[in-house]
Amino acid sequence: MSGPEIKPLSHSVGAEVLGVDLSRLDDQTFVAVAQAFDEHHGLLFRGQTLSPDDLVAFSRRFGDLDHAPVMEKGKTAVSGYPEIYIVSNIKDDDGKAIGSLGAGEAVWHTDMSYLPNPPGISMLYALEVPPEGGDTSLCSMAAAHDELPADLREKTAGLWIKHDGTFNSGGYLRQGVREDSDPMTCEGQPHPVVCAHPRTGRPVLYLGRRRNAYIVGLERQESEDLLNALWEFATLPDYTYTHRWRVGDLLMWNNRATMHRREPFDANARRLMQRTQIKGHAQPVPPR
Ligand code: OGA
Ligand code: MN
Repeated sequence: MSGPEIKPLSHSVGAEVLGVDLSRLDDQTFVAVAQAFDEHHGLLFRGQTLSPDDLVAFSRRFGDLDHAPVMEKGKTAVSGYPEIYIVSNIKDDDGKAIGSLGAGEAVWHTDMSYLPNPPGISMLYALEVPPEGGDTSLCSMAAAHDELPADLREKTAGLWIKHDGTFNSGGYLRQGVREDSDPMTCEGQPHPVVCAHPRTGRPVLYLGRRRNAYIVGLERQESEDLLNALWEFATLPDYTYTHRWRVGDLLMWNNRATMHRREPFDANARRLMQRTQIKGHAQPVPPR
């Protein structure tokens, strides 16, 4: 019995799955895909043609789906599919963006870690891509954890980070939230600095996003210094993979074991992505 071909995309995160049509995935292939996902934290499938029903059906094989969140410009979901969130800079006839995140940089982050139980998996499916820019990078928080210098490991042992709930990765204020740029007072959710991978138990760093982050219980400057050191280390090129999009690509990542970032692109170019999110099965917890 031979499964699909799995080709690593970098030495610490991501693999491409070849020869698979996600609109007609048999159970045996799904098991191989799920295994590769646990191992590589991110998977790429090229050349897909997925209707909204196909995208939702494939996503559901990994668990229950979240509804598209309310973003800076209100709700942006595909009509009739509240689970499919639109990430796009394209404007409709009234000049209103049809999706979220614009054309600017989306800084390194994990999706929605300001919630007590953040999404477990995110999937992004490319329908239109700009001729250049808009690349999406992943970084492995498992590799970053494993290679963390001893002094940083000791200094952060047992600590928790408050993950900001104020701004999204594009720098926009979330709807209905009080604007606050003070890490000590902003709204947010604390999580352990080191968490267990929800399926394999492997220890991973869990940083969320840098802006307004705060290490609970430390002096402001101590927290800033430690966070800067952690961030500098975790986003080193050694732990990242950068994806150059083609139409028909589906990239999925374990939202508890990776961070991601999007490069800016020309605001006059068109980029259209559909995103689904699979609910987290449990709150992030420290490894046993
Ligand atoms: C997201 C996100 C990056 C991108 O949808 O959560 O961060 O490449 N997207 O559009
Ligand atoms: Mn994101």
